[in-house]
Amino acid sequence: MRIHPVDTSVDTSDATLVAGVLKGLEPIEGSGEAIGQADADAFAAAGFEGKAGQTIIVSHPEAAALLVVGLGDELSFRSLRDAAGNAVRAIKTTDAVSLLGASGIEGATRAVVEGTLLGAYEYRTYKTGESDLKCESVGITSADDKLAEAISMSEATSLARDWVNTPAMDKSPETLAGLAREAVGDLPIEVEIWDRSRIESEELGGVLGVAAGSDRDPRVVIMKYRPDGAQKHLALVGKGIIFDTGGLSLKPSNSMEEMKDDMSGAAVVMATTIGIAELGLGVNITTIAPLTDNAVGGNATRPGDVLRPVDGPTIEVLNTDAEGRLILADGLGLAQGYEPDLTIDVATLTGAAAVALGKEVAAVFASDEDVASQVLASADVAGEYFWELPLHRGYRKLIDSNIADIKNVSGIRYGGAIVAALFLAEYAGDGPWAHLDIAGPARSQKTTGQMVKGASGVGVRTLIELARDMAETD
Ligand code: BES
Ligand code: MN
Ligand code: ZN
Repeated sequence: MRIHPVDTSVDTSDATLVAGVLKGLEPIEGSGEAIGQADADAFAAAGFEGKAGQTIIVSHPEAAALLVVGLGDELSFRSLRDAAGNAVRAIKTTDAVSLLGASGIEGATRAVVEGTLLGAYEYRTYKTGESDLKCESVGITSADDKLAEAISMSEATSLARDWVNTPAMDKSPETLAGLAREAVGDLPIEVEIWDRSRIESEELGGVLGVAAGSDRDPRVVIMKYRPDGAQKHLALVGKGIIFDTGGLSLKPSNSMEEMKDDMSGAAVVMATTIGIAELGLGVNITTIAPLTDNAVGGNATRPGDVLRPVDGPTIEVLNTDAEGRLILADGLGLAQGYEPDLTIDVATLTGAAAVALGKEVAAVFASDEDVASQVLASADVAGEYFWELPLHRGYRKLIDSNIADIKNVSGIRYGGAIVAALFLAEYAGDGPWAHLDIAGPARSQKTTGQMVKGASGVGVRTLIELARDMAETD
């Protein structure tokens, strides 16, 4: 999909003109004239009222067609972005000219670019047929100077989506680490890939314990971005379980279906790092992504076994399906060695987070209120949905172990997302830290607006915004 700025005098005779209306058919700024030239009766005849998600194509004297998209009750960054996503899938010509960027709201260009590129996202590696999308190029009117930036943020999100959508058979730890290195290309990011022997010599007992059941060796990807003059340092840690069978504490079949997504955290932090380097943000980044299967094999870690992560408490593993926290213990421990100003981990960690907040909202836990506000503010600018859950210390005793320092599950049903976060806190050091549990929104169940069924890339844009914020507040 090509996105480029155009001015209002552009020739639209071969293109679809895209305009927007609020519910009740009230045109948004910049769309009124085009809609005024269309046949108003067509809207009523087709039942088009301008509700969010509605689109209609009518004839227009100066264009191949006029596509009108509904924004629903209000014009906002999010409604505009979703309208652009709905529009791009409805366009029937190769070229389009979007008037949505002229809506006059702050961030309009970004909203239209993100909506267009992410709404047009397709993962076709294993499809034989042609793309469902007709549109190949969208010109945007009133594009401000944010166009290139919005393209970078969308591309980073799409990169994370690609990795997560890839079947587990084609993204072994070794392969995924290689894909990440390839995606870094010539960007100023140093990439280290630790193999099994390095992971052994570094004594990453959590990663080794989870990897023990798999024939595919684990990897740890470390990315370092050190731009000139940067003052602050952000460490990112992502859960990279290539496929989560549950291990010997095997998952039931239906819970296993989507478990190729369980490396979403790793995908998000690696793609975020690439996006940050592409934008040239002035903040140091260290990104750590432990990659391993959680499989069933003769040597698999057994319930009752004890693991020794690189640093911090020893762990009695009572449920091998609570494996994300075991590799994150090592990831967080390694991150502390870089003495960051802020550490953030991202993980599809608990079904409990999805039960609490559903499929569209991610959970954030933070070491203090300032960090929580920082993440929530960044999510707001990025237009992603996060909600804070408490790191309630009263539950910490639920993971006291009989024979080790700590156990990996509480053994009770309640408060699973909080217990998991308290477990991670043991390894996150004393400095500012946030934990993003994206188990719910890492995958979208439906195609709507900027979302396409499958991997969502949720977290990438929030973390890029947060890095921008850290770079600006030196
Ligand atoms: N990867 C899962 C969490 C998950 C569940 C992500 C559903 C996306 C959708 C994680 O490794 C897991 O299995 N967690 C267990 C923890 C439990 C054993 C304490 C869970 O949530 O059931
Ligand atoms: Mn699991
Ligand atoms: Zn998992």
